Amino acid sequence: MGQRYAAPRSILLLLLLLLSFAGATSDLYYSKLSGIIIPGFASTQLRAWSVLDCPFSPLDFNPLDSVWLDTTKVLSAVNCWLKCMLLDPYNQTDHPECKSRPDSGLSAITELDPGYITGPLSSVWKEWLKWCIEFGIEANAIVAVPYDWRLSPSMLEERDLYFHKLKLTFETTLKLRGGPSLVFAHSLGNNVFRYFLEWLKLEIAPKHYIQWLDEHIHAYFAVGAPLLGSTESVKATLFGFTFGLPVAEVGYYFAPSGKPYPDNWIITDVVYEYEGTLFTRSGNSISGNPGAASGDTTVAYNSLSWCKTWLGSKVNITRAPQAEHDGSDVQVHLDVEHIQGEDIVPNMTRAPRVKYMTYYEDSESIPGRRTAVWELDKANHRNIVRSPVLMRELWLQMWHDIHPDASSKFVTKGK
Ligand SMILES: *[C@@H]1O[C@H](CO)[C@@H](O)[C@H](O)[C@H]1NC(C)=O
Ligand SMILES: *[C@@H]1O[C@H](CO)[C@@H](O)[C@H](O)[C@H]1NC(C)=O
Ligand SMILES: *[C@@H]1O[C@H](CO)[C@@H](O)[C@H](O)[C@H]1NC(C)=O
Repeated sequence: MGQRYAAPRSILLLLLLLLSFAGATSDLYYSKLSGIIIPGFASTQLRAWSVLDCPFSPLDFNPLDSVWLDTTKVLSAVNCWLKCMLLDPYNQTDHPECKSRPDSGLSAITELDPGYITGPLSSVWKEWLKWCIEFGIEANAIVAVPYDWRLSPSMLEERDLYFHKLKLTFETTLKLRGGPSLVFAHSLGNNVFRYFLEWLKLEIAPKHYIQWLDEHIHAYFAVGAPLLGSTESVKATLFGFTFGLPVAEVGYYFAPSGKPYPDNWIITDVVYEYEGTLFTRSGNSISGNPGAASGDTTVAYNSLSWCKTWLGSKVNITRAPQAEHDGSDVQVHLDVEHIQGEDIVPNMTRAPRVKYMTYYEDSESIPGRRTAVWELDKANHRNIVRSPVLMRELWLQMWHDIHPDASSKFVTKGK
């Protein structure tokens, strides 16, 4: 399942890395860091908080029963399951007969239906945990901030005080460990995090906003971020997920609201697929290709590449093979002009059958900070989180940062 769409020739995935250095490059500093994980769409467990009698089925829902995702119940009591799953399309309230809420803690994102059908789903974040621990972040300094991915950001705050609690999470980890956090956001989690940053601007006094960010956030890793630009939001864009499950594609519709960011990308609908048919929370019919044939097969390339707008007016571009290489196939273009509003398309070659990684780096436009976008050929949206290539690059970059003799701002890709 999920193989219905022809594989695109080149799948790209972008990662954005924003390192802010509050003047600290010592081992001691690193031992104070925390890792905060913001999972992607459909990556948080939801549990029932109701008693729901499912007619014609021995499988009822009781409080704490898993709703997202209990595949047995999806298969054998789908109408009943939908009552627990779907929200009212207009006011996002629970179905009168069933109410579900997200689970909390790391297990909410690492133990997502550890069933035989979903196999890999449950382990997506385990590799990250391992990476963090190997990097020297203590296991108890890794915090997951799961959320109800069925809700729009404004409802997350209204119903669950999600952003309020997220702010407290950053403040608690700083108080507990004495240092800022590394933020790892995947997929929709990036929109959630970006919304948080905007929400925060209104929450704390303007002159303290940047200071708050410097104190609490060391780096932000945006993996597979569907950061829709304004032009893209005009045509409602659907991005779907493939779980290899009967309920395979789920996604959000975004629509223009005519308002400035972040309210310009309000989520207007949620899309599910069951047995090959797409249906929506609102009941509206869906047109569109659920398996976008560009980008990383889930998120359109335009949407991913939007994070390049965070780069300054000059960008250093390097393209190198993803696999181990001898440095002979490394292309570097320094200080390439970046016209805001236009995509940066490197004038570089690709040898056939080689998977490349293209780095766009800017260490100049914001003093003391560095921004990089990493583009991986043929990366898979979901599995990127545990891609060994990505782990290796993160690892190298982080160690490069604390190396006392590091002379360049970013890791050198050639030999
Ligand atoms: C939400 O909308 C439904 C109907 O669409 C209505 O029955 C329900 O009372 C509404 N809830 C709130 C809190 O407005
Ligand atoms: C791309 O690079 C090649 C060789 O370096 C050069 O001949 C060509 O003019 C460049 N194209 C553009 C659009 O810059
Ligand atoms: C590009 O790299 C050069 C050499 O390392 C460096 O001096 C320059 O600041 C970099 N440019 C940007 C935009 O980061």
